[in-house]
Amino acid sequence: MRRADDRHLAPDDEAWWRNAVFYQVYIRSFADANGDGVGDLEGVRGRLGYLELLGVDALWLTPFFRSPMVDHGYDVSDPRDVDPLFGDLETFDRLVADAHRHGLRVTIDLVPNHTSDRHEWFQAAVTAAPGGPERARYLFRDGRSFGGSQPPNNWTSVFGGPAWTRLPGADQWYLHLFAPEQPDLNWENPEVAADLERTLRFWLGRGVDGFRIDVAHGMAKPAGLPDMPHQVGVCPSLLERDGADPRFDADGVHDIHRMIRKVLDEYPARVAIGEIRVADDAAFARYVRPGELHLGFNFRLLEADFNADSVRAAIEHSLVAVQGSPAPATWTISNHDTVRPVTRYGGGEVGLARARAMALVQLALPGPAYLYNGDELGLPNVELPDWVLQDPVWKRSGHTERGRDGCRIPLPWESGTSPYGFSATPGTWLPMPGDWAGRTVEAQLEDPSSTLSLYRQALELRQRHTAFTGTEVEWYGAPPGCLAFRRRGGGLVCALNASGAPVSLPAGQVLLASGPLRPIGDPLPPDTAVWLKE
Ligand code: BGC
Repeated sequence: MRRADDRHLAPDDEAWWRNAVFYQVYIRSFADANGDGVGDLEGVRGRLGYLELLGVDALWLTPFFRSPMVDHGYDVSDPRDVDPLFGDLETFDRLVADAHRHGLRVTIDLVPNHTSDRHEWFQAAVTAAPGGPERARYLFRDGRSFGGSQPPNNWTSVFGGPAWTRLPGADQWYLHLFAPEQPDLNWENPEVAADLERTLRFWLGRGVDGFRIDVAHGMAKPAGLPDMPHQVGVCPSLLERDGADPRFDADGVHDIHRMIRKVLDEYPARVAIGEIRVADDAAFARYVRPGELHLGFNFRLLEADFNADSVRAAIEHSLVAVQGSPAPATWTISNHDTVRPVTRYGGGEVGLARARAMALVQLALPGPAYLYNGDELGLPNVELPDWVLQDPVWKRSGHTERGRDGCRIPLPWESGTSPYGFSATPGTWLPMPGDWAGRTVEAQLEDPSSTLSLYRQALELRQRHTAFTGTEVEWYGAPPGCLAFRRRGGGLVCALNASGAPVSLPAGQVLLASGPLRPIGDPLPPDTAVWLKE
């Protein structure tokens, strides 16, 4: 395993992110230091040793800014302050300094598409008269039909229901692609860009190493806000591709990314990664052109089913989408918006075996990898009772979509009973299952067959073994239902058996397998991946 004294941040490593493993900390659920049942910045600081031991290179911290928490921080009322629920600016500064001492870079969320309805700008807009400068920071419009009683167009909110809400008193409507408490900003207004620039410089000045840009395919809206050609379902999944959807991917968004990049370029070794959900590879490619984003989240691998064709197609699309651009492909199979891999791939022992296999596929690929906290423990999604659900999706969908709470359960750290060292109170913000004693960090740390040990070994090998040096992927012949690729250069081979039956192992020295391999000349069991050195 990696030794603590090996870790250092090379200040001149401008493109440190090109092959980095990022760890997404969903702050509410990571570690609670003040005992209120909600994770916080001090909790993250207290667990930096764990993250170093795990072997990741950088953190992505989800929003910790001032917020009424309608969408758990993605509704920002002051983007340049820390919400008291999570700590304060001094704690944030200490966290960044300590993370750097542990050899971990710190990237944070940026939410430029919308603010909270409690943001002072929106508060001013609500009381101002139509047509004035206060309203011009958002997308206010008169309604259609008699007396403006119908929304200005037919757009739906990603969380369900109409994307417009009317102010009381037969007033104007305002646009919100997410919850009504998340009004969309008007990016045609130069004040909006100027304010984002202030926010960027504020956090860059405090030493952050980069940003994850929320809804990076949003922000700009097409002139005239034309109707959607077709209505999407009541509550489209956040993962649905947008296709010919006028709500997203308007051309003007690229000017915004060029503006952001220009600011970042003034600071050495910083990175911006965009959350990009667009129709196809060509649309994706436009976000990572020179002068725009350094990296883009491509969700193809996350969306792939556990079968060889689907996984291979996802990898190929992800590679094609960055071909000819300065950006490497990025790899992720999980985040706070989606069902956890263990559950997605079938649940139970099979789901866990597949999630472990897919982790090896993900981590074998060249380019940055994003891990979501708790996946290294093999956590499944949790079925929660109706009355504890908090995600706005539950309410907005008229209680037809349960939302994303099931993948956001607090992390189990130690001990045999809930809350497993996450907090001093058993009243955690979402309840923790009673049967997670075997899944805690403590229980897995010294068990060589645990999922945590698998991740640690994988990250160690990825960091140090020469097999991981090649940046190009070459496909290998594989039996039906399986896939195998080689990293040209270093000679790492990764083989995945999704066929349902044992298959023979490709030649080479086994570096790591996601499940038990019986000794010598033995086949690769189903639902297993292996790393070999040619
Ligand atoms: C974030 C979600 C959030 C939404 C609105 C996303 O894509 O990942 O968690 O609800 O943006 O800000």
